[in-house]
Amino acid sequence: MPDSNNINVEFTLNGNPISIDVAPRDRLLDTLRYALDLTGAKEGCGEGECGACTVYLDGVPANSCLIPTYQVSGRAIDTIESIPADALSDMLASGATQCGACTPGVVMTACWLKRHPELLKTHTVRELMAGNLCRCTGYDGIIDGITDGCQSNYDRGNAS
Ligand code: FES
Ligand code: FES
Repeated sequence: MPDSNNINVEFTLNGNPISIDVAPRDRLLDTLRYALDLTGAKEGCGEGECGACTVYLDGVPANSCLIPTYQVSGRAIDTIESIPADALSDMLASGATQCGACTPGVVMTACWLKRHPELLKTHTVRELMAGNLCRCTGYDGIIDGITDGCQSNYDRGNAS
């Protein structure tokens, strides 16, 4: 029996329109993982600190653990499942092999930075990745991979 408190939410998910009924307190992270079976985004802290739950909200990295699902009505959400496998090549080349908890969020932010290499003019990669934590302190490979990927995109952008 439908819950009369539920809210119907329509949004774009990984490029496809979606309509789903959610409870007012449902978090986007849980809707993705448990209602829509998109388990790439992970729960780490659940408090907006670690970045394991990173998705794109209208193209910008956001912590899905902090977003009530009803608030994404009319918005565009993209998850790690939409990221092509070859987007990882820079990180693999630099040995940035991380665990399953932090990798999805790191990759989401890294891929976004690669599309915005101009940010490296005013920020370091470490500053830009500050919202994605690794408890194992495996940052060097991550930073190297992202720096290489951003630099090559920046060079390509300047050449065109
Ligand atoms: S689980 Fe969302 S920021 Fe840590
Ligand atoms: S938390 Fe994933 S490798 Fe450190």
